[in-house]
Amino acid sequence: MKLNIAIDGPSAAGKSTIARRLAHECGYIHLDTGAMYRCIAYKALNEKLALDEEAALGAMIDRTEIRLTPQGQVFLDGVEMQDEIRSNAVSMAASRVSSLKTVRQKLVERQQKMAADKGVVMDGRDIGTVVLPAAEVKIFLTASPQARAKRRFLENQQKGISSDYDQLVAEIAQRDRQDMERVHSPLRQAEDAVCVDTSDMTIDEVVATIKQIMAQKSKEG
Ligand code: DC
Repeated sequence: MKLNIAIDGPSAAGKSTIARRLAHECGYIHLDTGAMYRCIAYKALNEKLALDEEAALGAMIDRTEIRLTPQGQVFLDGVEMQDEIRSNAVSMAASRVSSLKTVRQKLVERQQKMAADKGVVMDGRDIGTVVLPAAEVKIFLTASPQARAKRRFLENQQKGISSDYDQLVAEIAQRDRQDMERVHSPLRQAEDAVCVDTSDMTIDEVVATIKQIMAQKSKEG
């Protein structure tokens, strides 16, 4: 029996890495909803749209195609996106546009259609609470701001990008605030989600923990 898995949590908690691995090992499809908000933010910055112009952003989304492939590629209007949607500027802009109701409604609708066939691991901020409230498995993945900043720091180092650890901690804290304090679908743990603190866990350990929860659910269901 295929399940839908919702993985929510703050930025840089490892959601995408874990979701990708889990989907790969289970033969599921991974859908990174953050990438969708990032595409919208990236396009808004390119088109010099104000990041709080709800109507203009909504109209832009209606003429925007975002395609997430089972291999994990992200296509924005037919063009493959890579590091350009992962920059700091786009991260901050994504956090801002994602606070707007119209933007959320339009993207949530698309996400719900994408998950209609089950066998999906979807990661984001509101998957267990809003997008897939009936998901069989809900995980709230978290880690201390220091652990998350350290991971980002090492990730950047591997990519040859120099970064300042203290600044990364401050940015992560600011994004947490923005994501948790927004009015529409703020980041919060669903009541029926299992919280997994990954601060001192390896990727393998986190994936194994979620697989155990999935196996338990399959047995029950
Ligand atoms: O997961 P991420 O860092 O790629 O997400 C980028 C931004 O998009 C983040 O600030 C919060 C927002 N987001 C959201 O509001 N809802 C989602 N389901 C996914 C991401």
